[in-house]
Amino acid sequence: MNFEFHNPTKLIFGAGTLSRLGPVTREYGQKALIVTGGGSVKRSGAFDRAVASLTDAGVAHAECTDVEPNPRITSVVRGARIAREAGCEVIIALGGGSTMDAAKVMAAAVLYAGDPWDMIGHGQEHWHIPTQALPIITVPTLAATGSEMNCGAVISNDATKVKSFVQAECLYPKVALVDPELTLTVPKDQTAYGVCDLITHVTEGYFNGVDGTPIQDRFAEGVIINAIEWGRRAVADGRDLDARAQVQWASIVALNGWVQAGVGMVPPVHMIEHALSAHHDIPHGAGLAVVNPAWMRFAARARPERFAQFAQRIFGLSPDGKDALTLGLAGIAAYEGFLREIGCPTRLSELGIGDALFEAYAKDAVLVVHDDQGRLLGRPPMTQDDIVAVLRAAL
Ligand code: NZQ
Ligand code: ZN
Repeated sequence: MNFEFHNPTKLIFGAGTLSRLGPVTREYGQKALIVTGGGSVKRSGAFDRAVASLTDAGVAHAECTDVEPNPRITSVVRGARIAREAGCEVIIALGGGSTMDAAKVMAAAVLYAGDPWDMIGHGQEHWHIPTQALPIITVPTLAATGSEMNCGAVISNDATKVKSFVQAECLYPKVALVDPELTLTVPKDQTAYGVCDLITHVTEGYFNGVDGTPIQDRFAEGVIINAIEWGRRAVADGRDLDARAQVQWASIVALNGWVQAGVGMVPPVHMIEHALSAHHDIPHGAGLAVVNPAWMRFAARARPERFAQFAQRIFGLSPDGKDALTLGLAGIAAYEGFLREIGCPTRLSELGIGDALFEAYAKDAVLVVHDDQGRLLGRPPMTQDDIVAVLRAAL
């Protein structure tokens, strides 16, 4: 595919870089809104260190705390109001993907007179893609989404049970200040979910993209192989800074546009997972660990050679005279085994989800990303019946 690649976010990466927050922020304003989640950054001391750096640099701040996992539009509205009333000129997100996503949409909502939900695609007639936002600085504390260096955000609406996204040029953070030390306190389960999330960002492009992308294939495979190797180590020993740093770098590369360039990013597994977490408020990476292997078994039949390549190059499985589909399925089993090894669920029942709402999830999954026949985009495109069949296989 012809492509354009432009990622304007400045990345500052390395242990100890949190201390640079003040001078970095000062370039964008004198008063910042610091957005945080449910308290992990207060317990770890990261919040105090962030404030100390800002104060030293002469930057005043207001706070928006308690952004929830699977962030709600109500939190976006609340944060935008605080920023507006306090006269903040710059937004700092200090937290996981949920905090970063909410902060990004707050930054646009401050400058938008309408309802911020207009900015999140949910099948509305006029989708208001924002064109302006306050400057955003991301300081991730969890390696998973890559939100720190991309222009996307995913927001949920509790009232309608819809979880969906926005992507806009103005949502690229000005700076991503990435300090792997901040991820040392992430618990084992969230560490594993993050590894699964980042791998899934790569597999979405790898399996659903166009043919004939040999360089991108090798990038994708490199990210997956390293995420498996270093992800294992980060899960085994959360204090292993080297492992934390490798996983965090992998999570950024996995979704900052580079691996996807020229490939096309079609994310059917994400669309199905978002429908599940909209209804059940499950961790995103855990939902992906359940949906992705089931989806892969469905998709392997349409593109067996691709899955055989995955089996050979990621897990070193040898063809041994097997046909492509058999080899591909063995690769999927190996991947599922890895997910279980690091402690991810791989069945809906482990998440407490039964089949009662399967039709509703299927309908929600095709709400935004669909072809002119209403099928979920991907290779192959999925009807709502296909989605239900994949969910059934994941029970
Ligand atoms: O809220 P706090 O107290 O901070 O605790 C969080 C939360 O409970 C905790 N945590 C984060 N950093 C920690 C920590 N605990 C201890 N030490 C730390 N250093 O981890 C829990 C989960 O946090 P969350 O931010 O929800 O996790 P994640 O980073 O996985 O983000 C998930 C959200 O991002 C969206 C997902 O759909 C979901 O809503 N996504 C965003 C994307 C993007 N913007 O590009 C792409 C993804 O595909 C994804 O959809
Ligand atoms: Zn994801």
